[in-house]
Amino acid sequence: MTRDIENEVAQRYDARWLNVSSLDDLSQSKIAYSGWDAGRLDLRQCAKDYATKCRLRLMRHIPPSGDYMLDVGSGPLLFKEYVEYSRNFRKRYCIDLSSVALEEAKKKIGDHGVFLHGSLFDVPLEPDFFDCTLSILTIFNIHKDKQEDAVRKLIEVTKPGRPIIIVYCNPSSAVSRLFRSYRTLRGTCRRLLKRRKKPARKKGARLYYHRHPIAWWDRFSDAADIQIMTWAYLDARMQKALIPDNALGRKLLEMIFRAEERFPHRLGKRCAYPIIILTKKPSALASRETSGNPRSLPRRHKVHLRRDSDAPRSRGSDSVRESDD
Ligand SMILES: C[S@@+](CC[C@H](N)C(=O)[O-])C[C@H]1O[C@@H](n2cnc3c(N)ncnc32)[C@H](O)[C@@H]1O
Repeated sequence: MTRDIENEVAQRYDARWLNVSSLDDLSQSKIAYSGWDAGRLDLRQCAKDYATKCRLRLMRHIPPSGDYMLDVGSGPLLFKEYVEYSRNFRKRYCIDLSSVALEEAKKKIGDHGVFLHGSLFDVPLEPDFFDCTLSILTIFNIHKDKQEDAVRKLIEVTKPGRPIIIVYCNPSSAVSRLFRSYRTLRGTCRRLLKRRKKPARKKGARLYYHRHPIAWWDRFSDAADIQIMTWAYLDARMQKALIPDNALGRKLLEMIFRAEERFPHRLGKRCAYPIIILTKKPSALASRETSGNPRSLPRRHKVHLRRDSDAPRSRGSDSVRESDD
């Protein structure tokens, strides 16, 4: 099942990143991104500054300098702020299932990057190697039963005292709960008025993801100190439904940003996209499974786009579609 999901994710993202490798230019990106999951981003003019500031937020948690940064599920480094994250590091290791994503990332950062094609689970990495680890909007695309192993691998390969910064998706954000109640109410009204329901979305049309609840992250307290903060309070669909694309919308997003800055932790547990910051403890028992021999690598995962002498040596190392806890 895990392999099926990985193969599907690889195929879908290869196709997606072929058309969309950069979203900095709004006029182009809207055209390019009118594909299968345009709903996941708010590319409207009113949201441009807000989205940039949210992405820059991550910079505060990245150490001011270091040798090696790991970016798991880097994609094509879609925005220029993403490129900035590693500017004070010697090398950025980008891992992705999509070779297209890595080709595009390579065009952006060239020799600064080490590009490792394959699944996080298969790419051999050395423990305690990275000064900072990122994984933005990726862990939820991994099978729900394997997400803990994925996070434990990130902890294992990061140096003690250094951060693992994960942008995740909250299944029960305050606004999504409101939307759910609204949808239930609308469904009830429709049934009472005997109106026909909208045809159900075609099964299988959407890519696998699974969002664990915020409390799920507590399990890593044996290996890391945990902070949960806001990345963005609203998800793109809600944002587009609630915020108009005009000066008023810009003002509203400015207000939301100010509130997020003022109460990062309090809103972090209720927002749509939390940043989970795991600071590895000195004696972290990182891995349930990652010690021992690495699994044998399937052919696809052996194709590394680029290896350099800095690459860490190997040290042993459902479908729930659209499902939530
Ligand atoms: C939603 S995209 C996010 C890309 C990028 N971080 C961003 O925020 O634009 C998720 C990316 O993670 C990659 N991915 C998903 N599961 C993975 C895995 N097990 N190992 C490596 N990469 C994975 C996908 O191929 C895809 O490029």
